[in-house]
Amino acid sequence: MTTTEMSVPRRRIADEFASRFGRAPRVSRAPGRVNVIGEHTDYNDGFVMPAALEFATLVAAAPRADRRLNVYSMTMDEAREFDLDSPPERGRHDWSDYVFGVAVMLERSGRRLKGADLVVWTDVPLGSGLSSSAALEVSAAHALLTASGAPFEPVATAKICQEAENEYVGMRCGIMDQYVSACGAAGNALLIDCRSLESRNVPIDPNRRLLVANSNVKHQHAGGEYNARREACEEGVRLLKPRLGPIKALRDVTPAELDASRDALPELVYRRCRHIVTENARVLEAERTLRAGDFAACGQAMNASHASMRDDFEITCPEVDFLAELAQGIEGVYGSRMTGGGFGGCTVSLVEAAAVDRAARTLVDGYRGAYGRVADVFVCSPSAGAGLVPL
Ligand code: GLA
Repeated sequence: MTTTEMSVPRRRIADEFASRFGRAPRVSRAPGRVNVIGEHTDYNDGFVMPAALEFATLVAAAPRADRRLNVYSMTMDEAREFDLDSPPERGRHDWSDYVFGVAVMLERSGRRLKGADLVVWTDVPLGSGLSSSAALEVSAAHALLTASGAPFEPVATAKICQEAENEYVGMRCGIMDQYVSACGAAGNALLIDCRSLESRNVPIDPNRRLLVANSNVKHQHAGGEYNARREACEEGVRLLKPRLGPIKALRDVTPAELDASRDALPELVYRRCRHIVTENARVLEAERTLRAGDFAACGQAMNASHASMRDDFEITCPEVDFLAELAQGIEGVYGSRMTGGGFGGCTVSLVEAAAVDRAARTLVDGYRGAYGRVADVFVCSPSAGAGLVPL
Protein backbone atom coordinates (compact mmCIF):
# COMPACT_ATOMS: atom_id res chain seq x y z
CA MET A 1 0.00 0.00 0.00
CA THR A 2 1.39 3.42 -0.82
CA THR A 3 1.57 6.20 1.74
CA THR A 4 -1.30 7.94 -0.06
CA GLU A 5 -3.54 4.87 0.18
CA MET A 6 -2.57 4.41 3.81
CA SER A 7 -3.51 8.04 4.52
CA VAL A 8 -7.22 7.19 4.02
CA PRO A 9 -7.50 4.77 6.98
CA ARG A 10 -5.01 6.94 8.88
CA ARG A 11 -7.33 9.95 8.55
CA ARG A 12 -10.38 7.86 9.44
CA ILE A 13 -8.75 6.45 12.55
CA ALA A 14 -7.41 9.89 13.59
CA ASP A 15 -10.90 11.41 13.14
CA GLU A 16 -12.46 8.57 15.15
CA PHE A 17 -9.90 9.12 17.88
CA ALA A 18 -10.49 12.89 17.97
CA SER A 19 -14.27 12.50 18.21
CA ARG A 20 -14.01 9.89 21.02
CA PHE A 21 -11.17 11.28 23.06
CA GLY A 22 -11.02 14.97 22.09
CA ARG A 23 -7.37 15.21 21.11
CA ALA A 24 -4.97 14.24 18.34
CA PRO A 25 -3.26 10.80 18.39
CA ARG A 26 -0.12 9.42 16.84
CA VAL A 27 -0.81 6.43 14.62
CA SER A 28 1.24 3.22 14.74
CA ARG A 29 1.12 0.59 12.02
CA ALA A 30 2.16 -3.07 12.02
CA PRO A 31 1.60 -5.45 9.08
CA GLY A 32 0.24 -8.98 8.74
CA ARG A 33 2.43 -11.46 6.91
CA VAL A 34 2.49 -14.19 4.34
CA ASN A 35 4.99 -16.97 4.93
CA VAL A 36 6.78 -17.92 1.71
CA ILE A 37 8.13 -21.12 3.28
CA GLY A 38 9.03 -22.61 6.68
CA GLU A 39 5.88 -23.74 8.52
CA HIS A 40 5.95 -24.70 12.21
CA THR A 41 9.75 -24.56 12.10
CA ASP A 42 9.91 -21.39 14.21
CA TYR A 43 9.16 -23.02 17.57
CA ASN A 44 11.67 -25.75 16.69
CA ASP A 45 14.49 -23.15 16.64
CA GLY A 46 14.53 -23.44 12.85
CA PHE A 47 14.27 -21.24 9.75
CA VAL A 48 11.33 -19.35 8.23
CA MET A 49 10.99 -16.97 5.29
CA PRO A 50 7.95 -14.68 5.64
CA ALA A 51 7.22 -11.30 4.04
CA ALA A 52 5.26 -8.45 5.64
CA LEU A 53 1.99 -7.62 3.89
CA GLU A 54 0.50 -4.26 2.95
CA PHE A 55 -2.52 -5.28 5.01
CA ALA A 56 -1.86 -3.89 8.46
CA THR A 57 -3.31 -2.94 11.82
CA LEU A 58 -3.30 0.71 12.83
CA VAL A 59 -3.43 1.82 16.46
CA ALA A 60 -4.05 5.51 17.17
CA ALA A 61 -2.94 6.43 20.68
CA ALA A 62 -2.35 9.32 23.04
CA PRO A 63 -1.17 9.13 26.65
CA ARG A 64 -3.44 9.71 29.67
CA ALA A 65 -2.52 11.21 33.03
CA ASP A 66 -3.59 8.02 34.89
CA ARG A 67 -2.78 4.31 34.33
CA ARG A 68 -5.93 3.30 32.50
CA LEU A 69 -6.05 1.88 28.98
CA ASN A 70 -9.24 2.64 27.03
CA VAL A 71 -9.39 0.78 23.72
CA TYR A 72 -11.99 1.11 20.99
CA SER A 73 -11.87 -1.21 17.96
CA MET A 74 -13.36 0.23 14.77
CA THR A 75 -13.24 -3.28 13.32
CA MET A 76 -15.30 -4.86 16.13
CA ASP A 77 -17.18 -1.65 17.10
CA GLU A 78 -16.52 -2.46 20.74
CA ALA A 79 -14.75 -0.66 23.59
CA ARG A 80 -12.74 -2.22 26.45
CA GLU A 81 -11.04 -0.84 29.57
CA PHE A 82 -8.07 -1.99 31.56
CA ASP A 83 -6.18 -0.82 34.64
CA LEU A 84 -2.41 -1.20 34.35
CA ASP A 85 -2.18 -1.35 38.16
CA SER A 86 -4.56 -4.28 38.59
CA PRO A 87 -4.26 -6.37 35.44
CA PRO A 88 -6.13 -9.69 35.17
CA GLU A 89 -3.69 -12.64 35.17
CA ARG A 90 -4.99 -14.10 31.90
CA GLY A 91 -6.94 -13.18 28.83
CA ARG A 92 -10.72 -13.61 28.66
CA HIS A 93 -10.91 -14.93 25.08
CA ASP A 94 -11.51 -11.51 23.62
CA TRP A 95 -9.81 -9.43 20.89
CA SER A 96 -8.63 -7.03 23.62
CA ASP A 97 -6.45 -9.83 25.12
CA TYR A 98 -3.87 -9.07 22.43
CA VAL A 99 -3.65 -5.40 23.47
CA PHE A 100 -3.80 -5.91 27.22
CA GLY A 101 -1.54 -8.98 27.14
CA VAL A 102 1.11 -6.92 25.37
CA ALA A 103 0.73 -4.13 27.96
CA VAL A 104 1.14 -6.64 30.80
CA MET A 105 4.23 -8.21 29.22
CA LEU A 106 5.81 -4.85 28.37
CA GLU A 107 5.47 -3.88 32.03
CA ARG A 108 6.78 -7.27 33.18
CA SER A 109 9.86 -6.68 31.00
CA GLY A 110 10.57 -3.57 33.09
CA ARG A 111 9.12 -0.96 30.73
CA ARG A 112 6.87 1.38 32.70
CA LEU A 113 3.85 2.40 30.62
CA LYS A 114 1.62 5.45 30.80
CA GLY A 115 -2.13 5.01 30.60
CA ALA A 116 -3.44 5.64 27.10
CA ASP A 117 -6.52 6.02 24.93
CA LEU A 118 -6.38 3.82 21.84
CA VAL A 119 -8.36 3.25 18.66
CA VAL A 120 -7.71 0.11 16.60
CA TRP A 121 -8.41 -0.49 12.89
CA THR A 122 -7.29 -3.30 10.63
CA ASP A 123 -7.55 -4.58 7.09
CA VAL A 124 -5.69 -7.84 7.80
CA PRO A 125 -8.22 -10.61 7.09
CA LEU A 126 -9.07 -12.20 10.46
CA GLY A 127 -8.51 -15.90 11.11
CA SER A 128 -6.98 -16.50 7.66
CA GLY A 129 -3.42 -17.41 8.60
CA LEU A 130 -2.14 -13.92 7.73
CA SER A 131 -1.23 -13.02 11.32
CA SER A 132 -3.94 -10.60 12.28
CA SER A 133 -3.08 -11.39 15.93
CA ALA A 134 0.60 -10.48 15.57
CA ALA A 135 -0.29 -7.31 13.65
CA LEU A 136 -2.53 -6.23 16.55
CA GLU A 137 0.07 -7.15 19.18
CA VAL A 138 2.95 -5.39 17.47
CA SER A 139 0.98 -2.25 16.53
CA ALA A 140 -0.39 -2.07 20.10
CA ALA A 141 3.15 -2.45 21.48
CA HIS A 142 4.42 0.27 19.15
CA ALA A 143 1.56 2.58 20.16
CA LEU A 144 1.91 1.93 23.91
CA LEU A 145 5.68 2.45 23.84
CA THR A 146 5.36 5.61 21.74
CA ALA A 147 2.67 7.03 24.05
CA SER A 148 4.98 6.29 27.01
CA GLY A 149 8.00 7.98 25.38
CA ALA A 150 9.87 4.64 25.27
CA PRO A 151 11.86 3.32 22.27
CA PHE A 152 10.45 0.58 20.02
CA GLU A 153 13.17 -2.08 19.82
CA PRO A 154 11.92 -4.38 17.04
CA VAL A 155 13.34 -7.79 18.01
CA ALA A 156 12.91 -7.31 21.77
CA THR A 157 9.35 -6.13 21.22
CA ALA A 158 8.58 -9.08 18.94
CA LYS A 159 9.66 -11.42 21.76
CA ILE A 160 7.48 -9.61 24.28
CA CYS A 161 4.50 -9.85 21.91
CA GLN A 162 5.14 -13.58 21.49
CA GLU A 163 5.20 -13.97 25.28
CA ALA A 164 1.89 -12.13 25.48
CA GLU A 165 0.37 -14.63 23.07
CA ASN A 166 1.99 -17.63 24.82
CA GLU A 167 1.20 -16.65 28.37
CA TYR A 168 -1.73 -14.26 28.26
CA VAL A 169 -3.74 -15.55 25.30
CA GLY A 170 -2.68 -19.20 25.77
CA MET A 171 -1.53 -19.91 22.20
CA ARG A 172 1.98 -21.41 22.12
CA CYS A 173 3.01 -19.71 18.88
CA GLY A 174 6.60 -19.22 17.76
CA ILE A 175 8.33 -15.92 16.98
CA MET A 176 7.86 -15.69 13.19
CA ASP A 177 4.73 -13.54 12.93
CA GLN A 178 5.67 -10.94 15.53
CA TYR A 179 9.25 -10.81 14.20
CA VAL A 180 8.34 -10.06 10.61
CA SER A 181 5.58 -7.67 11.66
CA ALA A 182 8.17 -5.72 13.67
CA CYS A 183 11.16 -6.07 11.31
CA GLY A 184 9.81 -6.56 7.77
CA ALA A 185 11.60 -4.83 4.87
CA ALA A 186 9.79 -3.42 1.81
CA GLY A 187 10.38 -5.50 -1.32
CA ASN A 188 11.92 -8.37 0.65
CA ALA A 189 11.09 -11.58 2.39
CA LEU A 190 13.05 -12.14 5.63
CA LEU A 191 15.09 -15.25 6.26
CA ILE A 192 14.79 -15.55 10.03
CA ASP A 193 16.95 -17.83 12.14
CA CYS A 194 14.53 -18.46 14.99
CA ARG A 195 17.35 -19.59 17.30
CA SER A 196 19.75 -16.67 16.99
CA LEU A 197 16.90 -14.25 16.15
CA GLU A 198 19.02 -12.83 13.35
CA SER A 199 17.54 -12.22 9.92
CA ARG A 200 18.58 -11.28 6.43
CA ASN A 201 16.60 -9.71 3.60
CA VAL A 202 15.78 -11.90 0.60
CA PRO A 203 14.75 -9.70 -2.34
CA ILE A 204 11.66 -10.73 -4.30
CA ASP A 205 12.54 -10.47 -7.99
CA PRO A 206 10.65 -7.54 -9.62
CA ASN A 207 9.32 -9.86 -12.34
CA ARG A 208 7.93 -12.42 -9.90
CA ARG A 209 4.91 -12.10 -7.62
CA LEU A 210 3.70 -13.71 -4.42
CA LEU A 211 0.06 -14.50 -5.11
CA VAL A 212 -2.04 -15.17 -2.03
CA ALA A 213 -5.37 -17.02 -2.25
CA ASN A 214 -7.62 -17.00 0.80
CA SER A 215 -9.85 -20.09 0.96
CA ASN A 216 -12.01 -18.26 3.51
CA VAL A 217 -12.00 -21.41 5.61
CA LYS A 218 -11.31 -19.97 9.08
CA HIS A 219 -8.63 -21.64 11.10
CA GLN A 220 -8.97 -22.16 14.83
CA HIS A 221 -5.49 -21.86 16.31
CA ALA A 222 -6.31 -21.95 19.96
CA GLY A 223 -8.40 -25.02 19.08
CA GLY A 224 -5.63 -27.29 20.37
CA GLU A 225 -4.30 -28.70 17.08
CA TYR A 226 -1.47 -26.17 16.94
CA ASN A 227 -0.38 -26.84 20.50
CA ALA A 228 -0.67 -30.60 19.83
CA ARG A 229 1.77 -30.29 16.90
CA ARG A 230 4.17 -28.46 19.15
CA GLU A 231 3.93 -31.19 21.78
CA ALA A 232 4.66 -33.89 19.17
CA CYS A 233 7.85 -32.03 18.19
CA GLU A 234 8.91 -31.76 21.84
CA GLU A 235 8.19 -35.45 22.32
CA GLY A 236 10.39 -36.18 19.29
CA VAL A 237 13.31 -34.24 20.79
CA ARG A 238 12.87 -36.05 24.13
CA LEU A 239 12.94 -39.48 22.44
CA LEU A 240 15.82 -38.62 20.10
CA LYS A 241 18.12 -37.27 22.81
CA PRO A 242 19.36 -40.69 24.03
CA ARG A 243 20.35 -41.47 20.41
CA LEU A 244 21.63 -38.15 19.16
CA GLY A 245 23.18 -36.60 22.24
CA PRO A 246 22.61 -33.07 23.50
CA ILE A 247 20.13 -31.81 20.92
CA LYS A 248 18.02 -28.85 22.04
CA ALA A 249 15.43 -28.78 19.28
CA LEU A 250 14.58 -30.39 15.94
CA ARG A 251 16.77 -27.69 14.41
CA ASP A 252 19.70 -29.80 15.57
CA VAL A 253 18.55 -32.93 13.69
CA THR A 254 19.30 -33.64 10.01
CA PRO A 255 16.91 -35.65 7.81
CA ALA A 256 19.50 -38.48 7.69
CA GLU A 257 19.83 -38.59 11.49
CA LEU A 258 16.08 -38.69 11.87
CA ASP A 259 15.79 -41.56 9.42
CA ALA A 260 18.50 -43.51 11.22
CA SER A 261 16.55 -43.14 14.47
CA ARG A 262 13.15 -43.92 13.06
CA ASP A 263 12.68 -46.95 15.32
CA ALA A 264 13.02 -44.73 18.42
CA LEU A 265 9.82 -42.86 17.59
CA PRO A 266 6.14 -43.73 17.36
CA GLU A 267 5.03 -43.46 13.72
CA LEU A 268 3.03 -40.26 14.22
CA VAL A 269 5.81 -38.47 16.09
CA TYR A 270 8.26 -39.58 13.39
CA ARG A 271 6.13 -38.02 10.66
CA ARG A 272 5.69 -34.78 12.61
CA CYS A 273 9.47 -34.59 13.07
CA ARG A 274 10.12 -35.44 9.43
CA HIS A 275 8.08 -32.44 8.36
CA ILE A 276 10.16 -30.13 10.54
CA VAL A 277 13.62 -31.40 9.62
CA THR A 278 12.88 -31.52 5.89
CA GLU A 279 11.13 -28.12 6.02
CA ASN A 280 14.20 -26.48 7.57
CA ALA A 281 16.26 -27.78 4.65
CA ARG A 282 13.63 -26.51 2.18
CA VAL A 283 13.69 -22.99 3.65
CA LEU A 284 17.43 -22.71 3.08
CA GLU A 285 17.03 -24.19 -0.41
CA ALA A 286 14.27 -21.66 -1.19
CA GLU A 287 16.47 -18.80 -0.02
CA ARG A 288 19.39 -20.00 -2.12
CA THR A 289 17.32 -20.50 -5.26
CA LEU A 290 15.46 -17.18 -4.89
CA ARG A 291 18.78 -15.34 -4.66
CA ALA A 292 20.14 -17.29 -7.65
CA GLY A 293 17.03 -16.55 -9.74
CA ASP A 294 16.27 -20.28 -10.01
CA PHE A 295 12.54 -19.85 -9.52
CA ALA A 296 11.66 -23.31 -10.79
CA ALA A 297 13.75 -24.87 -8.01
CA CYS A 298 12.25 -22.48 -5.44
CA GLY A 299 8.79 -23.51 -6.62
CA GLN A 300 9.68 -27.18 -6.21
CA ALA A 301 10.66 -26.53 -2.60
CA MET A 302 7.29 -24.80 -2.06
CA ASN A 303 5.38 -27.72 -3.60
CA ALA A 304 7.32 -30.20 -1.46
CA SER A 305 6.55 -28.07 1.60
CA HIS A 306 2.84 -28.32 0.84
CA ALA A 307 2.97 -32.10 0.44
CA SER A 308 4.85 -32.39 3.73
CA MET A 309 2.28 -30.25 5.57
CA ARG A 310 -0.52 -32.30 4.03
CA ASP A 311 0.91 -35.81 4.54
CA ASP A 312 3.34 -35.60 7.48
CA PHE A 313 2.26 -32.67 9.62
CA GLU A 314 -1.43 -32.99 8.64
CA ILE A 315 -2.31 -29.33 8.98
CA THR A 316 -3.97 -28.66 5.62
CA CYS A 317 -7.62 -29.12 4.68
CA PRO A 318 -9.32 -30.14 1.41
CA GLU A 319 -10.09 -26.58 0.31
CA VAL A 320 -6.49 -25.43 0.76
CA ASP A 321 -5.11 -28.62 -0.84
CA PHE A 322 -7.35 -27.90 -3.80
CA LEU A 323 -6.11 -24.32 -4.20
CA ALA A 324 -2.43 -25.31 -3.89
CA GLU A 325 -2.72 -28.22 -6.30
CA LEU A 326 -4.71 -26.17 -8.82
CA ALA A 327 -2.08 -23.40 -8.70
CA GLN A 328 0.77 -25.90 -9.11
CA GLY A 329 -0.65 -26.90 -12.51
CA ILE A 330 -1.04 -23.36 -13.93
CA GLU A 331 1.49 -22.20 -16.51
CA GLY A 332 3.69 -19.43 -15.09
CA VAL A 333 3.23 -20.65 -11.49
CA TYR A 334 6.54 -21.97 -10.12
CA GLY A 335 5.16 -23.40 -6.89
CA SER A 336 2.33 -23.16 -4.39
CA ARG A 337 1.72 -24.11 -0.78
CA MET A 338 -0.46 -23.43 2.21
CA THR A 339 0.85 -20.56 4.29
CA GLY A 340 0.43 -20.02 8.04
CA GLY A 341 -0.52 -22.17 11.00
CA GLY A 342 -2.92 -24.37 9.03
CA PHE A 343 -6.41 -25.92 9.11
CA GLY A 344 -7.69 -23.40 6.57
CA GLY A 345 -6.57 -19.95 5.54
CA CYS A 346 -4.45 -19.13 2.51
CA THR A 347 -2.09 -20.47 -0.11
CA VAL A 348 0.93 -18.57 -1.42
CA SER A 349 2.21 -19.09 -4.96
CA LEU A 350 5.36 -17.84 -6.64
CA VAL A 351 4.22 -16.60 -10.04
CA GLU A 352 5.72 -15.07 -13.18
CA ALA A 353 4.46 -11.43 -13.22
CA ALA A 354 2.84 -11.82 -16.65
CA ALA A 355 0.85 -14.87 -15.48
CA VAL A 356 -0.67 -13.32 -12.35
CA ASP A 357 -4.05 -12.27 -13.76
CA ARG A 358 -4.63 -15.59 -15.47
CA ALA A 359 -3.57 -17.54 -12.39
CA ALA A 360 -5.85 -15.46 -10.16
CA ARG A 361 -8.84 -16.04 -12.46
CA THR A 362 -8.14 -19.77 -12.68
CA LEU A 363 -8.03 -20.04 -8.88
CA VAL A 364 -11.23 -18.04 -8.30
CA ASP A 365 -13.16 -19.91 -11.03
CA GLY A 366 -11.81 -23.33 -10.05
CA TYR A 367 -12.57 -22.83 -6.37
CA ARG A 368 -16.08 -21.61 -7.07
CA GLY A 369 -16.65 -24.59 -9.34
CA ALA A 370 -15.36 -27.15 -6.85
CA TYR A 371 -16.60 -25.74 -3.55
CA GLY A 372 -19.17 -23.05 -4.46
CA ARG A 373 -17.12 -20.61 -2.39
CA VAL A 374 -15.32 -17.35 -3.02
CA ALA A 375 -11.52 -17.26 -2.87
CA ASP A 376 -10.03 -13.81 -2.27
CA VAL A 377 -6.87 -13.51 -4.31
CA PHE A 378 -4.30 -10.72 -4.01
CA VAL A 379 -0.68 -9.97 -4.83
CA CYS A 380 1.64 -9.36 -1.88
CA SER A 381 4.06 -6.47 -2.33
CA PRO A 382 6.25 -6.96 0.73
CA SER A 383 5.98 -3.94 3.03
CA ALA A 384 8.07 -2.53 5.87
CA GLY A 385 7.63 -3.61 9.48
CA ALA A 386 6.10 -1.60 12.31
CA GLY A 387 6.42 2.16 12.47
CA LEU A 388 4.59 5.43 12.86
CA VAL A 389 2.31 6.31 9.96
CA PRO A 390 3.53 9.65 8.61
CA LEU A 391 1.06 12.55 8.96
C1 GLA B 1 1.32 -19.43 13.41
C2 GLA B 1 2.25 -19.09 14.56
C3 GLA B 1 3.70 -19.00 14.08
C4 GLA B 1 4.10 -20.22 13.26
C5 GLA B 1 3.04 -20.53 12.21
C6 GLA B 1 3.32 -21.81 11.50
O1 GLA B 1 1.27 -18.38 12.50
O2 GLA B 1 1.88 -17.86 15.15
O3 GLA B 1 4.56 -18.81 15.18
O4 GLA B 1 4.35 -21.31 14.09
O5 GLA B 1 1.74 -20.60 12.76
O6 GLA B 1 4.46 -21.72 10.75
